[in-house]
Amino acid sequence: MNAVTAATPADPSTFGERLGVHYAVGRWSSVNDDLPWTPSPRSVPCMWRYRNLRPFAIEAAEFVKGDAAALRVITHLNPAHRDYEAACGHLYSGLQVLKPHESMTCHRHAASAIRFVHEGQGGWTAVNGDRISVNPGDVVVTPSRLWHEHGNDADDGLVIWQDCTNDPLVNTLGANFFELHPAGTHLDPARRVDTLATWGGLLLPDTRSRQETSPLHAYPWDKCHEALTTAARAGHHSPYDGTILEYTNPATGGPAASTIGCTLQLLQPGERTTTHRHTGSVVHVVARGEGTTTINGTDFEWSTGDTLCVPSWAWHSHTNRQSRDEAVLFSYNEFPLMDRLGLYVEEAYTEGAHTEGADVEEAYAEEAAAGQQP
Ligand code: FE2
Ligand code: FE2
Repeated sequence: MNAVTAATPADPSTFGERLGVHYAVGRWSSVNDDLPWTPSPRSVPCMWRYRNLRPFAIEAAEFVKGDAAALRVITHLNPAHRDYEAACGHLYSGLQVLKPHESMTCHRHAASAIRFVHEGQGGWTAVNGDRISVNPGDVVVTPSRLWHEHGNDADDGLVIWQDCTNDPLVNTLGANFFELHPAGTHLDPARRVDTLATWGGLLLPDTRSRQETSPLHAYPWDKCHEALTTAARAGHHSPYDGTILEYTNPATGGPAASTIGCTLQLLQPGERTTTHRHTGSVVHVVARGEGTTTINGTDFEWSTGDTLCVPSWAWHSHTNRQSRDEAVLFSYNEFPLMDRLGLYVEEAYTEGAHTEGADVEEAYAEEAAAGQQP
């Protein structure tokens, strides 16, 4: 049938080269990359200090025009993949500055976005024309494909917030779209909608079953922090996370941004959580306090404003270093994705039972050291 192939003598030394001409490869040569024994994420543990990157974000605001670039953002780039703009796994993170009386061009994209406000008064965002004021600690959700724009109304003072998106995932899937609004803005000065008053209470509109995306676009710090401390007083506590609450879509009870999980967690003074690991990357943003997160044996010491990431399947625990003050972490993660794909796995660390962890701890520590800013 295929006499030419059958008659060709085997030559392993040139096999790969000859096969490569036909855009093919022998799978045995890459099996350890394609089928690792345990999850083998590309990202390494990493931390970005707010005090180091804030000046760069402010400097960029001097030469990148807000109305010329809806994406004037300093990206948190994981050192293990400098060619691939992600903070960890398939999660994007970056700092955005808005100058006084500045607004960004209205746009929309297929990726979902969440914003955590670090500082400044006068910030606002608009989703589908609903304009909302935002303050430090507030969380804003911009669902996939909805028009949005934002700005800073203050007479002086910067607004700095953190963009948290799943662009890397959507780009990997070859499904991202980005579009600028033809009019540059979709604001209607006459329109005044209070989504928190409508969707943040006990009684919900009967249109909720038709809400494909979260109708609640902003989650104010005061209300979320109050809910967190109330939950802590009521005894809601996880040995791995302290007291942790999830930002949810009130119409469905699911995640606020359907493909990105988003949480707020409280560590009591002096609290140290139990070590565990799970599939799914997590990016933590320090909302308040000082502490240490230990990832694969390396300590990352953080304070307010810092960002750190825990790659999928990395051992980790959190410690609040303060003996009097609480520590609060805002975080976003890949858990909704893991759940829907049936890939979520979680494991508690048991002393002496994880020789694999002990064997590779030194290698992990070397990698992690590369991910610490001074
Ligand atoms: Fe956007
Ligand atoms: Fe965890």
